[in-house]
This record gives sequence, structure tokens and C-alpha cells, in this order.
Amino acid sequence: MIRVVLINLWVHDVARVQALQSNSVRSMIDHQPSGNDRVIVVDHPLVQHKLTLLRDERTPVALFRQLIKEVAMLLGYEALAQAATVDANVVTPMGPHAGLALADDPVFVSVLRAGNGLLDGLLMLVPTAKVGFVGIARNHETLEAESYYTKLPNFRGRDVLLIDPMLATGNTAVAALSMVREQGAARVRLVSLVASPTGVAHVLEADADVTIVTAAVDPELDAKGYIVPGLGDAGDRIFGT
Ligand code: URA
Repeated sequence: MIRVVLINLWVHDVARVQALQSNSVRSMIDHQPSGNDRVIVVDHPLVQHKLTLLRDERTPVALFRQLIKEVAMLLGYEALAQAATVDANVVTPMGPHAGLALADDPVFVSVLRAGNGLLDGLLMLVPTAKVGFVGIARNHETLEAESYYTKLPNFRGRDVLLIDPMLATGNTAVAALSMVREQGAARVRLVSLVASPTGVAHVLEADADVTIVTAAVDPELDAKGYIVPGLGDAGDRIFGT
């Protein structure tokens, strides 16, 4: 069982709360009603071990790709913890068994291009998942998100994992969320590797129902909208550019 830290529990963890420098996020944490948690930080030692290696600037591209795949599987495991199941009866070599199966294939929506780094691991977890893509580029001057490509499957009430490794300003995530909502996505979880307090606040304010699943919430953004300490440009590190 993956251990998760629900962000509302962080009020008891002084070091971590001090690391969250956004007042708006801190107030959301303080006012988070139990049972209505919308930010899940997966703090399992394996996830944190692999994330530390991903952050390390010395980690070469081949290892980075392997690690991001592994972390994606672990985050996906947690992100699908509430997936609906149906009865599935099978017969083992020893006799009948009343088992469970996923009620439907989830949909993974990758935010190009860095989302594809998480996609491989998620597809290893659920090889039958449907896959969509949204292309949203960040204007490096304004930091605003601009859409240039969309290909989405039919959501039909399926669980949707919107995948983008870096939840920085939140502009891209909010734009992607509104695109999948417009196409009828209902149960959406945003899966990221590293988030910022600004990005978390932006997403939670823009979308009343989304849950964020991430491996870390780092302290701040720099002037260009990069997460500090983060791991640098996720796309560059995945694709070796
Ligand atoms: N995108 C990245 O790849 N890294 C960041 O830190 C922020 C946005």
C-alpha cells in the first residue's frame, strides 16, 4: 500500500508548511475539510528516492527516462486508487474466485511534450487505457498557455488522468483541464511529479472538482516560471534536448 500524505495533514508538519511559501495555498490547507482532500502528495520512500535522482542534474537521460517511468507507475497506482470496479468471476486452478476488475479503461491525457515522459509508465500500469493528447505551449514572455494541438478520446464517464510532470504556474494545467472538461471529462486527477504552491492554488481555484496527485510541492517559482528547486526543464531532461 502506497503511503500518502494528504496535504491537510501538513498543518502538523512545521518544516513542510514553512516550505510552502504561498499564503493562498497555506490557507487552503488550513481550511481543508477532512474527507475532501484535493492534493495528494505521495511521500513513499521509493517515490522520494527516485524523485531525488530525477532532480539530480548529473542524472543522464537514459536513467532519467527509466526513473520517470517508474515514478509514473507509482503515482498512477495512487491516482487510480478510487477507480470503479466490477465483479469478475474467475476460476483458479483450485476453484472459483469472486474477483474484481476495473469497471472501465481510464483515459490518460498527456500534456505535450513532457507529459509523454509519464505516459509510458502509466501505460505499463494500465495497458488498455485510452490516450489523449493536448498540445499547450507556454509563451515564455507572458507565461500564458496557448493551445496548438488536441486529440481526445471519448471520455464516457471514465476516470481521466491528466498528466504533466511540472505543475509550475498552473497556466498550462488550467488550460488543459478546461479542454478536457469541455469534452465531457468528469472524474479528473492531475498527475504531476513536482508542483509549486502557486500552481496548486491556481488549479484548485480554477477547477472545483479536480484532485492533484504529485510527488512533491516545492517552495517557489523563479522569474521564468520554473519550479525551484524542481528538476529543471522536464521536457529537455526526458528528450535530451
Ligand atoms: N516546466 C518545466 O519543465 N520545469 C519547470 O520547473 C517548470 C515548468
